[in-house]
Amino acid sequence: MDLYEALYTTRMMRRLRPDPIPLETQARILDAAVRAPNGGNTQRWHFVAVDDRGLIREFAELFRQARAIEYEKYRTGAGPMAAPAPGADPAAHAETMRRMQGSGNYLADHFEEIPLLLFVFAIDDLGGANIYPAIWSALLAARAEGVGGVMTMVLRNFEDKVNELLGVPVGQGWKMSAMLALGYPRGRWGVAANRRPVHEVSSRNHWGEPFGVEVPEPLWSPRETAGLAAAG
Ligand SMILES: Cc1cc2nc3c(=O)[nH]c(=O)nc-3n(C[C@H](O)[C@H](O)[C@H](O)COP(=O)(O)O)c2cc1C
Repeated sequence: MDLYEALYTTRMMRRLRPDPIPLETQARILDAAVRAPNGGNTQRWHFVAVDDRGLIREFAELFRQARAIEYEKYRTGAGPMAAPAPGADPAAHAETMRRMQGSGNYLADHFEEIPLLLFVFAIDDLGGANIYPAIWSALLAARAEGVGGVMTMVLRNFEDKVNELLGVPVGQGWKMSAMLALGYPRGRWGVAANRRPVHEVSSRNHWGEPFGVEVPEPLWSPRETAGLAAAG
C-alpha cells in the first residue's frame, strides 16, 4: 500500500466485524509497531492482546461506564473533548462530536463483538510522546492488513481495575497509555475527513503569518488509487 494512502485513510473505524484477526496478522501489526521511534531506544512498552471473550465482556461493561464519565465531562464543558482549538468553529466541533458520539455508541453497544483489544502500556511515556509513534504505527500497519480500529483512552478511568484484570506489574512502573479496539471494518475506508486545512493551522517564521500556500482540499484523494472506494 502507498504510504500516503495509509496516512490519509487510517481513520478511526468503530463499526467492526466479529471475525477474528489471524495471529500472523497480529504479529505483523506489532512487529511494525515496535520499529517506532522512542526516546533512548529504551522500548519501555508492553502490549497486551486480549481476545478472551469473558475478559472482553468484562471490559465492555467498564468501557460503557468509562465512556459515560467522559461524556458527562463533555456535557459540563470539561475534559479533553469539550473545547475546539482557538479560532475553530464551535458549531463544526459540536457537529463532529455529534457524529463521533453516534459511531462511538455503536462501538460501545457492540463491544462484546470486538475480536481484539490491544492494551498498550508504557513506563514514563512522556505525556504520550514516547508511545504514540508506536500506537500510530500499529494503526497504520493494521490499515495495511485491512484491519481497522480505534484508539481509546477512556478505560484509564478504571486503571486499577484494568491492571487487576490483566495482571499488570504496576510496581515496575507500567501504566496504561491506550486501548486499541481492532477488527475488520464493516464500513469502507475513506480519507480522514473534517480536518482544518494546513494554511489555517500553520504559520511561517512568526505565529499567525501566512504559511505560504493554501491547501483547500486534501492533496491525496482516493480517486488516485484504483479500487479504493470514496469516503463513505
Ligand atoms: C489520544 C486519543 C484518544 C482517543 N480516544 C478516543 C475514545 O476514547 N473513543 C473514540 O471513539 N475515539 C477516540 N479517539 C479517536 C478520535 O476521536 C478520532 O481520531 C478523531 O475524532 C478524528 O476522527 P478520524 O481519525 O476518524 O478522522 C482518540 C484519539 C486520540 C488521539
